[in-house]
Amino acid sequence: MISDKAKQQIDSWIKKYPKGRQSSAVMEALKIVQNENKGSLNSELIKAVANYLDMPFIAVAEVATFYENYNHKEVGKYTIRFCHNISCMLNGADDLIEYLQDKLKIQNNQTTQDNKFHFKKVECLGACIGAPMLQINDKYYENLTKQKIDDILDKLK
Ligand code: FES
Repeated sequence: MISDKAKQQIDSWIKKYPKGRQSSAVMEALKIVQNENKGSLNSELIKAVANYLDMPFIAVAEVATFYENYNHKEVGKYTIRFCHNISCMLNGADDLIEYLQDKLKIQNNQTTQDNKFHFKKVECLGACIGAPMLQINDKYYENLTKQKIDDILDKLK
C-alpha cells in the first residue's frame, strides 16, 4: 500500500525525531502518501500510515480529517491553496481569489473540468511576510498580483 519510495521518504522524517517518537512524522507521512495517490487519501491509506508509524488508526484519521492539507476525494493535478487570512486579506487576497476563481471558472473546493486545478481557500500558511500568497502542491508563491497569477498558471503543464 505504501511504496518503497514513500517509505524511504517517511523514514527520513522519522529520523528527525527521538527514537520511539515516530508518530511525530504523521503529518509528513500522510502528505507523502497523499502525493503518491493523485493528491487524496482514503481509509486504506490512513490505515497503512497508522500501521507504518505504529499508531492507532483513529489517531491518524483525526489528523487526516482535521487539517486542510489533506483531501479525501480525487482532486486535480495541481491543488491551489490560497490563503485568505489576515495578512493576505489586508494585502488584496480577496480580489485575487475572485480573479483566480473567475479565471478557472471554479469556486472554493472545486476542480476544473479538465482535472488540472483544484482550488481551496485556506487559513494562514505561515508566509505572511510574502502576503498575499498561495501554495500549489508543495510550492509557495508570494507577493501575488493578477499578472503573477497568470504567469504562474501559464507555466503549469
Ligand atoms: S495570513 Fe496569509 S500566509 Fe499568513
